[in-house]
Amino acid sequence: MKVPFLNLNAQHAPLRGEIEEAIREVIDSGAFAGGPFVAKFEEDFAAFCGGRYAIGVGSGTEALWLALLAAGIGPGDEVITVPNTFIATAEAITFCGATPVLVDVDPQTYTMDPSELEQAMTARTKAVIPVHLFGQPADMDPILEIARARGLFVLEDACQAHGAAYKGRKAGTLGDAGCFSFYPGKNLGAFGEAGAVVTNDSALQEKIRILRDHGQVEKYHHTLIGWNGRMDGIQAAVLRVKLRHLEEGNRARRAHASQYGLALGGIEEIITPVCAAYARHVYHIYAIRVHERDEFLRFMAGQGIGCGVHYPVPIHNTEAYRSLGCRSDAFPVSVRCAGDFVSLPMFPELTPEQVERVVQTAKEAVAAGVMA
Ligand SMILES: Cc1ncc(COP(=O)(O)O)c(C=O)c1O
Repeated sequence: MKVPFLNLNAQHAPLRGEIEEAIREVIDSGAFAGGPFVAKFEEDFAAFCGGRYAIGVGSGTEALWLALLAAGIGPGDEVITVPNTFIATAEAITFCGATPVLVDVDPQTYTMDPSELEQAMTARTKAVIPVHLFGQPADMDPILEIARARGLFVLEDACQAHGAAYKGRKAGTLGDAGCFSFYPGKNLGAFGEAGAVVTNDSALQEKIRILRDHGQVEKYHHTLIGWNGRMDGIQAAVLRVKLRHLEEGNRARRAHASQYGLALGGIEEIITPVCAAYARHVYHIYAIRVHERDEFLRFMAGQGIGCGVHYPVPIHNTEAYRSLGCRSDAFPVSVRCAGDFVSLPMFPELTPEQVERVVQTAKEAVAAGVMA
């Protein structure tokens, strides 16, 4: 039995009729760029998150960038984030003209280690971006406490954390704003690129709305230098349908994670993910850690098990960010994780038999000594 890493067709098959109908409505209305379908999705997504406002934009990267711009982050500013993330978190900072400053992650949760924050701060620090990696929120209370004491803007990178929660509150509503990606493979995925910012701050949301629409407050009346960052009507219509099924999908992911955890948790050669006591983890990615990762990946691939690596190179060791001037062995937890991470198949429609097949194959890899 082969097990794919991800199977979007399995997710879309039962929803196909509903989605086609939603797309037909957009075609009939002609509201393709921004417009009423985006507004409806924004309302639904804000309600789902328990936030006051959601602003639909073109991607998660754009959500991060526009939120930082709207918060006034610019040249000369420093923004603290983590090396253990997708490069978009850092790119958004750079494209504001600011500089990313990195702090290491906690070895249990793989999210920002709050105890590292103070020492990374300078007079130029203006914002902090914790990343809710793999679907688990960062430890927000201590991060917020430190940031609030300094008047810093806290932007959650919730691009992998749709429906995750921290002490009962949804990811994306804990800081000043939260950013989401609706890249197709995400827990809530569009039929192309899309993203959103969620916030309770009325002035901030207004500014993001203006910035995403060429800085205009009404047609051809431009008060700011903005950008074309509108969400597509078709993406909004698809997302509205899929949002209704997100919770069910997250519950299935959590069940698969617990099946993986029970079966693999006691094996010495495999480190399974830890769900913090404060967290509702939604397992966008189920990442284990193994030594000799390449051999393990080869073995799994040979048995028809689709695995991934998120992410093989921490930000400071990418060629793009060599200019940060960090030592390659800086941020040792992030560096170690980047060398060890293996993402196992994870999507709601996996069957218990498929999870069992992945488990058995991982055990065979251990028994065969490929990670010795
Ligand atoms: C942690 C994180 N931040 C930012 C992004 C960027 O989102 P997008 O691909 O929608 O631009 C992603 C998406 O892959 C992500 O996983």
